[in-house]
Amino acid sequence: MKFKGSDNYVATQDLMLAVNAAITLKRPLLVKGEPGTGKTMLAEEVAQSLGLPLLQWHIKSTTKAQQGLYEYDAVSRLRDSQLKDVDGGERVKDIQNYIVKGVLWQAFTADQPVALLIDEIDKADIEFPNDLLREIDRMEFYCYETRELIRAKHRPVVFITSNNEKELPDAFLRRCFFHYIKFPDAETMKSIVGVHFPGLKQELLTSAMKTFYDVRNLPGLKKKPSTSELLDWLKLLVAEDIPLEALQSKDDKVAVPPLVGALLKNEQDVTLFEKLVFMQRNNR
Ligand SMILES: Nc1ncnc2c1ncn2[C@@H]1O[C@H](COP(=O)(O)OP(=O)(O)O)[C@@H](O)[C@H]1O
Ligand SMILES: [Mg+2]
Repeated sequence: MKFKGSDNYVATQDLMLAVNAAITLKRPLLVKGEPGTGKTMLAEEVAQSLGLPLLQWHIKSTTKAQQGLYEYDAVSRLRDSQLKDVDGGERVKDIQNYIVKGVLWQAFTADQPVALLIDEIDKADIEFPNDLLREIDRMEFYCYETRELIRAKHRPVVFITSNNEKELPDAFLRRCFFHYIKFPDAETMKSIVGVHFPGLKQELLTSAMKTFYDVRNLPGLKKKPSTSELLDWLKLLVAEDIPLEALQSKDDKVAVPPLVGALLKNEQDVTLFEKLVFMQRNNR
């Protein structure tokens, strides 16, 4: 099993190395990076190119580690026990019928090797990663209700992503192979855009990229636009048929780009940008 990139996804050399290192070490690959730098998509693409089904677990602030293992649906069981007519009361007797299997259970018991994505682990509370240590390490857990040990038939290829909103515990980090997806340089970004808009005019791309990196490099931005924002913006520029001149200012001064709402997502950033433009105009 070796990941060599894919037609839909631009993977840098060091990213491919990291993916393969994690697979060799049989450790989860922890991918960090700004939102929109292709972390989730990486898992999808690796799974696809290795021919593994992908099980996804999207973490929210309320997600508990136990939900990834299993949940015991006591409420349904109680209801069924009151309505005796369900299967003549047979269903209620078997607790197995009320165990809701989580993604880890499904991944461990799948008949073929699978890929498992634990997406945005930093959304959950601080205990979440620690609560999964043993399961991820030993690839097994115990179901108390049914008294069975669930052990991985095949070790899944595990991807864990984080937007860096919270620090992860050391004990957890020790068990992962780590990769930080750096924000793509202009060359890599061109390839990424090329994957999404194969026929894009070179002049438009060059001007749009210049504007994009100008906006991104503006000091003091609250939320820098990322790859997915650039892609959205380009899509709009093409759809709205924005003329090239609208992106290029003759005097090489910064101007507020058309459809700036695709790039800047809060009013402070837009105001900051407008101020800069205003100051440049007055400095002439
Ligand atoms: N390396 C890349 N190659 C191709 N498309 C990319 C790449 N990185 C980001 N994208 C685009 O950006 C979008 C956002 O990526 P996503 O995986 O959702 O980011 P993240 O999970 O890091 O927030 C993707 O849908 C894809 O269109
Ligand atoms: Mg994501």
